[in-house]
Amino acid sequence: MEKRRLNKARRPKVSELKADFISVPRVKGAAEGVVLRELKTLLSEDLGFHDAPVNNGRHNFHSFPAKFPPQLPRRFIESLTSPGDLVLDPMSGSGTTVVEAISTARIGIGFDIDPLALLIGKVKTTHLDPIAVEREAHRVAEKAELSLLKPSLLQKELETRFDRQTREFINYWFSEDTQIELMAILSSIDSVEDLNVRDFLKLTLSAIIVTKSGGVSLAWDLGHTRPHKLNQGKAKGYKAAIPEFEKRAAKNISSMLKQGGSAAKGYILHGNAESLPLESDCVDLIVTSPPYASNAIDYMRAHKFSLVWLGMEVNHLTELRSGYIGNDKLTGYTFEPLTSLPERIISRITKIDPRKGGVLRRYYSEMTRVLREMRRVLRPGKVAIVVVGSSLMRGIDTETDRCLVEIGEAVDLPCAGVGVRLLDRDRRMMPTSSKTPKSSQIENRMHREFVLAFVKPS
Ligand SMILES: C[S@@+](CC[C@H](N)C(=O)[O-])C[C@H]1O[C@@H](n2cnc3c(N)ncnc32)[C@H](O)[C@@H]1O
Repeated sequence: MEKRRLNKARRPKVSELKADFISVPRVKGAAEGVVLRELKTLLSEDLGFHDAPVNNGRHNFHSFPAKFPPQLPRRFIESLTSPGDLVLDPMSGSGTTVVEAISTARIGIGFDIDPLALLIGKVKTTHLDPIAVEREAHRVAEKAELSLLKPSLLQKELETRFDRQTREFINYWFSEDTQIELMAILSSIDSVEDLNVRDFLKLTLSAIIVTKSGGVSLAWDLGHTRPHKLNQGKAKGYKAAIPEFEKRAAKNISSMLKQGGSAAKGYILHGNAESLPLESDCVDLIVTSPPYASNAIDYMRAHKFSLVWLGMEVNHLTELRSGYIGNDKLTGYTFEPLTSLPERIISRITKIDPRKGGVLRRYYSEMTRVLREMRRVLRPGKVAIVVVGSSLMRGIDTETDRCLVEIGEAVDLPCAGVGVRLLDRDRRMMPTSSKTPKSSQIENRMHREFVLAFVKPS
């Protein structure tokens, strides 16, 4: 029966999927299938979740570009799994899926390769005693204030702690006063004994640096494509780091108290979505969102502002960046054979800009491996929800949604339906071309994300 429900003969054709609007394929007999029926309902719901209340304050610990509204993974987790099931996010970012899985008594597991994503995810899924954390946060701020009385010691530490390139980066992006204050907070955090509390405080420090507006750094638009430097003399509303740290710690501790549901086990681990350290056929549900094609959100560009303070060298971070899905480094890259739609789009872009065509080829090669890997770890008959947006490359729509549906077919992970979620104009993360008329179809697609529901055949 299970087999009949999802067998190949009943798979929707790509042409049947009209991803421009909510669509569930007209698969003959789909009504018989519990999973397909459930998916049909889920995909036709309003998946925007605008203004819906967030019931777990942990999601607010740290900003993260293009993170899920928590209600999205939660809706699929609650409908498609049972307590005790294993829920995976192979590109877990700020850990939204894993937090929602564990707060609904599922086992959540997330992988990412970004060091800041891993820290955010780890802190969000670790349970701490708020009173103990508050005590330590207060002690850290007090100790940091006291150490400002001897700035020469902090200055010395600043000079010895970083390699030359990292030091240059810090000198460029942080005022001298801020550097001394951040150093004071950091040395004080280093003296906290409990490793988990220390991580919580490090994340708090990072949260005052990596903000849309640039936080305590001299950058004023860290949330967007390329940070711009403020003129040091120009008033940014200079924020002293230690009071900012104290305020943020208080906010995060109160967020910690606002936490719904039970707390099952959650794991956030370093791992590449293209080859996961998991055995085959063990996952009950995947809910994930890959980076956009065309490297539209450069995670590392913003994240290195705090990672350099957390002990990572700027050159090492640049190297790590080239391993992210959607990156534009092409030398020595191993491409996958692609299906016809990605090939057609790549060839259109290549005619205008061969390099961009190569970058898109890399993206679809990576996503082929990711979908293949998701298929491997899923249990037969189980679902992978993949949320994607479209990108423009040289004015051409990458049609990520349709291409992934076709790639899914090719790796035997058929797509059973596509939902659409509308993005807030303000929260949309895609830069759009100023040359594209606002009323154009492409421009309209940019304001949507597509919720693809793949099902592993039984
Ligand atoms: C759109 S974000 C995920 C956001 C997440 N859904 C959330 O709610 O926070 C995509 C993530 O993919 C990660 N990523 C990029 N390449 C990866 C790879 N090869 N393996 C695992 N994660 C990767 C990025 O670091 C980023 O955190």
